Amino acid sequence: MQIHENYPLKNLNTFGIAANARYYVDITSIEELQELIDSDIFKNSERLILGGGSNMLFMGDVQKLVIDITIPGKKILQETEEFVEIEVGAGENWHDFVTFCVEHDFRGVENLALIPGTVGAAPIQNIGAYGCELKETVECVNGIEISTNTFKKFCNLDCDFGYRTSYFKKELKNDFIITSVIFKLFKTKQPNSSYKDISQELERLGITNPTTQDIFDAVVSVRTRKLPDPKVTGNAGSFFKNPYIPKAQYELLKADFPEIPGYPIDDSQIKVPAAWLIEQCGWKGKRFGDAGVHPNQALVIVNYGNATGRELVDLSKKIQASVKEKFGIELEPEVWVI
Ligand code: EPU
Repeated sequence: MQIHENYPLKNLNTFGIAANARYYVDITSIEELQELIDSDIFKNSERLILGGGSNMLFMGDVQKLVIDITIPGKKILQETEEFVEIEVGAGENWHDFVTFCVEHDFRGVENLALIPGTVGAAPIQNIGAYGCELKETVECVNGIEISTNTFKKFCNLDCDFGYRTSYFKKELKNDFIITSVIFKLFKTKQPNSSYKDISQELERLGITNPTTQDIFDAVVSVRTRKLPDPKVTGNAGSFFKNPYIPKAQYELLKADFPEIPGYPIDDSQIKVPAAWLIEQCGWKGKRFGDAGVHPNQALVIVNYGNATGRELVDLSKKIQASVKEKFGIELEPEVWVI
């Protein structure tokens, strides 16, 4: 285990922000992690855990100990005719794991193809796309509780998963480091092709009875068309969460904006697509220097090259202010600003 000083993070965050970490350490096993937690540098530093850097925006150099969790490994724990239980190291790349599952026809994560980041970061915000969420396939989340430096296991219901949130993002935020995730994947489950973009793509290809591979291919092609590839254009996916608003407020807005989309969450709340609100405020495709709003998806803020974290945050604040002014809705960032 080697601690580096003033370590460049540009290739370790999908926004591609050129920032340095005061200290940086790469952790490849539970033993290394426990050794680190016992060390003086750990006890005396503020810390930041990296999990692919796909949901973070650095405002400048990070005056912390940056801990990059790269613990590898995939292990089948149990396999029956109906399901398979797999433990996956927190440092494994999420999309590589999805690809592995699709190749073996282990079903349940194919709708989550191409989401940037690591397996260990995925439960923290309960990643979701195209009608599926991570919580549908997680059996347990394993990791180290920092305060006691002991191993802890959280089963699905204890993870308190919600829309882009979990127990790990709330109460446990600074006291738990995920080391592996155990998934329960299915061998006979019907694929979920209900999301409009996916059903349209399958229809276009003339597929009526899609396989796991068909869903995966459809997701990859929709995402490739609509979302920028972080390896080419810096971004962190959706910058904001889709807001939930009271039904009464939605009805009032509908009177002024008859086209406003909305999806009922329960009897009293409606989810409104943030991308629609942002597009209506005229931001889609706008560019200011190297900071911009993606031309194909208004919810994605992009770094065209050398934008600073501050420029991107300033743009996000302007977007928030204009949506608030036009619709009276507060947009909450999904990205962590550091
Ligand atoms: N829309 C617009 N303008 C746009 C894009 C979308 O008006 O530029 C409207 C349309 O009405 C569209 C609706 O927004 O029907 C929803 O758009 P989309 O299907 O692209 O999904 P989203 O709500 O913008 C969410 C997730 C994405 C996920 C997609 C697909 C959040 C914050 N984002 O986006 O997740 O890929 O659904 O399931 O929930 C991420 O979290 O980083 C992410 C990319």
